[in-house]
Amino acid sequence: MLILGIESSCDETAAALVEIKKGKIKIISNVISSQIKIHQKYGGVVPEMAARAHLENILPVITKALGKKEKSIFGGSTSKCGVCQLADLRKKEKKIDLIAVTVGPGLITSLLVGIETAKVLAYLWNKPIIGVNHLEGHIYANFIGKIFNFQFSIFKQIQNSIRQLADKCQMFPAICLIVSGGHTELILMKDHLKYKKIGQTKDDAAGEAFDKVAKMLNLNYPGGPAIAEAAMKIKKLQATSYKLQANFPRPMINSGDYDFSFSGLKTAVLYQLKKDKDWQKKIPEYCYEFQQAIIDVLIFKTLKAAKEYKVKTIILSGGVAANNELRKQFNHQLQVTSYKLQANFLVPSKNLCTDNAVMITVAGYFNFCKKGEKWQKLKPDSNLEL
Ligand code: KG4
Ligand code: ZN
Repeated sequence: MLILGIESSCDETAAALVEIKKGKIKIISNVISSQIKIHQKYGGVVPEMAARAHLENILPVITKALGKKEKSIFGGSTSKCGVCQLADLRKKEKKIDLIAVTVGPGLITSLLVGIETAKVLAYLWNKPIIGVNHLEGHIYANFIGKIFNFQFSIFKQIQNSIRQLADKCQMFPAICLIVSGGHTELILMKDHLKYKKIGQTKDDAAGEAFDKVAKMLNLNYPGGPAIAEAAMKIKKLQATSYKLQANFPRPMINSGDYDFSFSGLKTAVLYQLKKDKDWQKKIPEYCYEFQQAIIDVLIFKTLKAAKEYKVKTIILSGGVAANNELRKQFNHQLQVTSYKLQANFLVPSKNLCTDNAVMITVAGYFNFCKKGEKWQKLKPDSNLEL
């Protein structure tokens, strides 16, 4: 089964072609056109500019994902009109079995570009289409590269297959921590495609806090990778004389529930920088301490939930999951005997943590026979929940 995935919920225009054969997921192409350069000077995503850039990039990105050469792929406008570009896509289209597209959550104008393009292709090519929840995509990025113990064909009963997979892998219940630029959520999964939100951020998402603190420190957008890189300098210095400076709070760590809050931490950084005239000389220190405050809360709450719900798997996902320290410390904490957890730990490869269309194809695949949507019914929903 060949699936074309399309993702345009925020500032990445992405398309991917994935083959699912004999239970194995194979990435054929994974094309991402990033808009970082456009939004960098504003320190965050400007929705209308994002939508315009999606509009320019979507067909060249899909063309490239389908294996066609498109010279002007990232170099501004293409010489061909949209209709000609669509006509160019014709040959490959015959083999595609399904189109999966992100329908939310995300920026409404950005979502619309992906959805309307997917609908046009589904109509022109007479292919089935499935709408995918972006957050579900992040979770299912963890299944890429895994071998499933079932065969799939569009005409078979996928519900049975999913049940078999769940039984065979014995991976449920699972706890999923989704940490991205727009979301920080703890989700309990009792089975494939079955979600119960047990906690979420009351204000900023973890990635948003990274981005905003990076802006305060005059670091680049997106802030997560910039802060992680600066913090790494401290890791290297640790053996020498580094001392904790700021003692940032670990918000809501003892709240007793599974909710998060990061806006107070962001304000604590702001006040600390106002007090410290020499802060520019201590950027790595501040990055290190801020990052550690976030990591402590994320790991503490996830492991607490993992214990309470006696989960078999801990799933980490979303852009912040690309953070090296978070990944390392999660792994380490799972080895610590006091937690006494026998849970598997899943985290996607770093390039599949941040937004991409491969994860949308995989989530689309799992959802397909359950819903089997019609192209006319597909609508964007910027606040879509799991
Ligand atoms: O999932 P994602 O690509 O987009 C959304 O769905 O929001 O996540 C983007 C977020 C940004 O806030 C970015 O700063 C953060 O993920 N991020 C990181 C790292 N790489 C990306 N945060 C911490 N460390 C990283 N290495
Ligand atoms: Zn995302």
